[in-house]
Amino acid sequence: MADKIRVLLTEEEVDKRINEVAGMINQDYAGKQVHLICILKGGVFFTCELAKRLTVPVSMDFMSVSSYGAGTVSSGVVKIVKDLDEPLEGKDVLIVEDIIDSGRTLAYLIEVLKQRGPKSIHLCTLLDKPERRVKKQVKVDYTCFTIPDEFVVGYGLDYDQKYRNLPYIGVVELDGQA
Ligand code: IMP
Ligand code: MG
Repeated sequence: MADKIRVLLTEEEVDKRINEVAGMINQDYAGKQVHLICILKGGVFFTCELAKRLTVPVSMDFMSVSSYGAGTVSSGVVKIVKDLDEPLEGKDVLIVEDIIDSGRTLAYLIEVLKQRGPKSIHLCTLLDKPERRVKKQVKVDYTCFTIPDEFVVGYGLDYDQKYRNLPYIGVVELDGQA
């Protein structure tokens, strides 16, 4: 049976909020070039929509990480599946993520990327689930939406590799649990 998806944030709401956050980044990075690091695969839709709205000079790179662990809980052991193509030395780096949950992935990644000598490193996320945070040191500079502790899909986020392409953000209501 098909899963039921309850809409949490409509396409229009997401669109409007990305415009606002892009406006903040344009202000904060005035006179600089921002180097966006898209965290694949989930960050790809958000990164593209955000990048289209930036008016400061933009460069982009992509990285894919996987956290070992079963199911929907990340373990904190992070493996770089695809590394960046470009060095970070002297760059104003902005990491773009789909969602910060426990914060384990980002806590690890920020440490790794800091060692590559960027001029600055900041973090931008489409969604934040602060209730689930384990790594309290992860500081998010730009958050589009703070959401409750629910498993969400769409706009890049998947459930078992499905639903990344939904243009809105929804909650999967599994059969029998709705
Ligand atoms: P963290 O290391 O626990 O912060 O995990 C972050 C990663 O877990 C995200 O980049 C997502 O890939 C995945 N994730 C966490 N929560 C959700 C969710 O609600 N839906 C889909 N993926 C999620
Ligand atoms: Mg992710």
